[in-house]
Amino acid sequence: MSAPRRMLIAGNWKMNPTRAADAHVLAQLIDAAVTLPVDVDVIVCPPTIYLDLVRGALIGSGVGVGAQTMHWEASGAYTGETSPAMLSGDRGNPIATHVIIGHSERRQYDGETDEKVARKVAAALAYGLIPIAAIGETLEERRTGQAEAVVRRQLTAAISEVDTLGGRRMAIAYEPVWAIGTSMAASGADAQAAAAVIRELLVAAFGSDGSAIPILYGGSVTGENAAEFFGRDDVDGALVGGASLKPEAFAAIVAAAGASAS
Ligand code: PGA
Repeated sequence: MSAPRRMLIAGNWKMNPTRAADAHVLAQLIDAAVTLPVDVDVIVCPPTIYLDLVRGALIGSGVGVGAQTMHWEASGAYTGETSPAMLSGDRGNPIATHVIIGHSERRQYDGETDEKVARKVAAALAYGLIPIAAIGETLEERRTGQAEAVVRRQLTAAISEVDTLGGRRMAIAYEPVWAIGTSMAASGADAQAAAAVIRELLVAAFGSDGSAIPILYGGSVTGENAAEFFGRDDVDGALVGGASLKPEAFAAIVAAAGASAS
């Protein structure tokens, strides 16, 4: 990889596992399986209720912890929500360092609109959290030739409230909806094509800061296909769903990132 960007591998556990004890064991198994490469950041994003438990289990491992979503307000009458202030926790001791924003499952099932994504990204940055803004087209949008337009629209919205005050320590995840949980990963060439569009917009918006933002690919990434993505110029890591629940597979993805970063 030619670009001087750190890579990021983020495991998205989604609504798994159902028992806290199993979350603890999974974190321990990931700790045991993963060898942390020098130029790769590795995090897991468990359900909110397990964040502190998993964080505790991973202390000293070098594997960090991110949240799967959050609200944009710091506090208030928002039943069931978690705020950026809560995630960022005490200064120097955050509950989570990263937060996924705008995952397609939240866009689809929880009404996460482009406008909400924009607010959340800005709020995460304001609280020192690193947002991983997820964007990507549906199969229908791809079939009708709108894939690039959707990526442009969602990214433009996601970064629309980002200013220099909150910093620009963020990541973008390109996740074509048709590739998520389907075993039908995009090709490396397709991922790179989308990442190049994303890079162009980031550089246009943020100048040199834009070229330092990691762009992840997500959608059926496995230990076997990961290298196909990491060899590409503008793909700097992965957002991993199913394989992040399998310690050996997750470790293989991290190793593939390490091989391409070195
Ligand atoms: P998958 O999920 O790896 O299971 O396809 C990716 C994601 O939803 O982030």
